[in-house]
Amino acid sequence: MSAKPTANPLESLVDIISTQTALLQSLYAKNSAEVPTLDAPLQFNALEFDPELTAVRTLIVAAATHLIATVQSPLQFTANSLGGLYDNVALGLVVDINVPEILKEAGDEGLHVDELASATGVSSSYLARVFRYLITRHIFREVSPDVFAHNRLSSLLTKTKTLKEIKEEPNARFDDAPIAASVYMGSTQILNSSTAMISFIKNPQQASAPFNIAYKTSKTMFEWMEEPGNELLARVFTAAMKMNANEPTETYTRGIEGDALKPNDVIVDVGGGPGSVTSAIQKAYPKLRYVVQDLDPQIAAAKRFWEENDPEAIRTGQVQLQVHDFFKTQPIEGAAVYFLCVVIHDWSDEDSRKILTNLRSAAGAHSKLILFEMVTEHIIKDSATTPYPLQPNFANGFMTILDLAMLSFYNGKERTREEYGKLGRECGWELKEVKSGPGKLSALIFTPV
Ligand SMILES: C[S@@+](CC[C@H](N)C(=O)[O-])C[C@H]1O[C@@H](n2cnc3c(N)ncnc32)[C@H](O)[C@@H]1O
Repeated sequence: MSAKPTANPLESLVDIISTQTALLQSLYAKNSAEVPTLDAPLQFNALEFDPELTAVRTLIVAAATHLIATVQSPLQFTANSLGGLYDNVALGLVVDINVPEILKEAGDEGLHVDELASATGVSSSYLARVFRYLITRHIFREVSPDVFAHNRLSSLLTKTKTLKEIKEEPNARFDDAPIAASVYMGSTQILNSSTAMISFIKNPQQASAPFNIAYKTSKTMFEWMEEPGNELLARVFTAAMKMNANEPTETYTRGIEGDALKPNDVIVDVGGGPGSVTSAIQKAYPKLRYVVQDLDPQIAAAKRFWEENDPEAIRTGQVQLQVHDFFKTQPIEGAAVYFLCVVIHDWSDEDSRKILTNLRSAAGAHSKLILFEMVTEHIIKDSATTPYPLQPNFANGFMTILDLAMLSFYNGKERTREEYGKLGRECGWELKEVKSGPGKLSALIFTPV
């Protein structure tokens, strides 16, 4: 698969880019389509998620990133990295003041910054500077001097609600818009908590997590979001979690293996949020029964979610929504499967042990525990598995962003396979199998020891 490590790294990188770009074009051509341009707004279609195309894109991006890191002046590279926090600030501002929705209504011709200023209530001179920052990073485009319009990347920030709906209920503006919600979180809780990270890492005894230092609270972020005044952030968090619904359903169905279960076997979605993952699994395995558990506010959101998406499942009792704190005794005993989707990464080893031990106490001899999580790996170059000279994780930064975000919120962490195995063993669960999915999550399948 890969060239010898003695090969010239620059030539290898250029070779990966040119062969994979040709492949990308031919895959689009095979589907009677062209590679989308950066200038046109994003049109969601099946090709955006095609696994073969995704693999090709991953290689191109990994090689291009590697090429930049190799040829760019280290001084310039470092200077650019220093500005990373302004990505969060600039993107957070535009989603907060509904720029993507305003530009969507303006269409291809875009809108002059003065009109944007009067529509948003934000000074045109600040807006123009934020646009220039983003456009330099290929987000939005300047059609003519001070006239801004959407492009492929900026259009992804658009919420699902219209401007009229947003005006009527501003606190609901991020509902059903997981990407805009995640961006907004990036400019609020994530950015704020990160300011306390260095202090926390140097002295972790001072608080539970950087979040607690930054927000001057001893509550967990989940408890803090229940306080009056934090309603918008709580709602944004719930909306952002729907990103997990973008994970290919196959990740979940291959983990649960519902065909091997008996009708009416019970699947418990622990810390399930609105239950969007359960919804995907339930569509694949409609003969099983499901319980979605979470804290009070999330179950309230879950009720809205199921009312809108599948009221019948609640009415017939096939899906039950249950308020349950996973630090307390698990009320459903002997379920076929207890699963936690991107929950354990929120917690330190100590807290994770409490959660998993509670599940072990409720489990029967045939119960399974499944964690849907990203699994981290060491970044040692290995040309047997990765084309030379690429990194084994293909320089995919998202996992490392999430890892540090978990640290800043809850002193949580993304873990390696070995770390998950050890954590399970300490709570009476044996890690039997890790099924890596077609998306970013893997299914870690445990059975009782
Ligand atoms: C990262 S979200 C994942 C939500 C869901 N599993 C998904 O994939 O969309 C973590 C969830 O854990 C829930 N949670 C936090 N503390 C909890 C607790 N003590 N008991 C039960 N759920 C809790 C949060 O409310 C949140 O819904």
